Amino acid sequence: MVFDHTQTMNWSRGVGQEAASSQDGDRLEDTEESGLSDALGLLHIEIDCETAGKFGGDGEEILHSKNVLRKQRNWERKLAAKRSKRRGEKLRRRQRRAEASGDAGAAADSLQDSKRVLKVNARERLAQARVTGPRLCVDLSVAVCMSPKEISRLAGQIGRLYGSNRRARKPFHLFLTDLKEDSLLYRECQRMNDGFLRYAIDITEDSFLDLFPQESVIYLTPDAEQALEYVEPDKVYVLGGLVDESVQKKITYLRARDGGVPSARLPISEYMVKKTNAKNYHSKILAINQVFDILLTFCDTGSWAVALGEGIPPGKGYIIRTDDTPQIDH
Ligand SMILES: C[S@@+](CC[C@H](N)C(=O)[O-])C[C@H]1O[C@@H](n2cnc3c(N)ncnc32)[C@H](O)[C@@H]1O
Repeated sequence: MVFDHTQTMNWSRGVGQEAASSQDGDRLEDTEESGLSDALGLLHIEIDCETAGKFGGDGEEILHSKNVLRKQRNWERKLAAKRSKRRGEKLRRRQRRAEASGDAGAAADSLQDSKRVLKVNARERLAQARVTGPRLCVDLSVAVCMSPKEISRLAGQIGRLYGSNRRARKPFHLFLTDLKEDSLLYRECQRMNDGFLRYAIDITEDSFLDLFPQESVIYLTPDAEQALEYVEPDKVYVLGGLVDESVQKKITYLRARDGGVPSARLPISEYMVKKTNAKNYHSKILAINQVFDILLTFCDTGSWAVALGEGIPPGKGYIIRTDDTPQIDH
């Protein structure tokens, strides 16, 4: 359940560095933030004391330090969200003042500010999502089944998934689990995605099975029997980090079953029908970023018909079922 030291650093840096690069001289001007940072410093000291032998049994000690780390992470997230919000408010105030003053120089600054406001807004939403957002995890333990070419494609899809989350009105709290620092995938993620190490994503070498309670997990897999009905705030939705050009069936279905967690598929059969096409090609298997876009749209609109209609690429051979659509067996 614990992020190892480097990964915790990585995670903190994700929020911290993005925030730091945006500060542009807006240092920690208010004492409340500095106060919180000091308190955070104290918390680090407490962790050292508590894990340095206060507990006898190994299991108990590990459990305790995991709890302390979890609390620390929550606190850091809240702090980052608060900072981000305050910075956004400051920029928006400045922009409103510039617009009201009507001077040309100020207007140009204001345009610059609008771009910054958009960035800061995105950062604010992402920071908030890490405190209260629905959770989505990409399980990269299955990445070992892939060729180097597929691994590169997966790295690109992770970048696109993150881009969608940045732009989303209601982003998710994202996790990448089982991402080994010495793996080709880790290197490809950095090569293909600018600023990957600063992404507002929690990255860990641990398994999602160690990170989340089993009962909170729903593994999304095209081979599940159950269709997903809702996206619930207390669940963690897991996607299999797989690009399978050679279509290796049921890898994630079996992974979920062996891990003892329930699985669900997108409700494509419930809302869509096969479209007749020249190639007669029909597939319900999507890339992780496509599945994620569908979940984002569903969270935004509450409608599977809208989310699937917009998110399933026409080439997959499915269209939304309407009252007049001829019913073709799926
Ligand atoms: C390219 S698919 C991999 C399919 C692979 N055969 C498998 O065993 O999962 C990548 C991931 O996107 C998600 N996914 C793709 N299509 C899906 C669908 N129709 N319903 C639910 N999840 C889906 C799953 O998490 C899947 O592991």
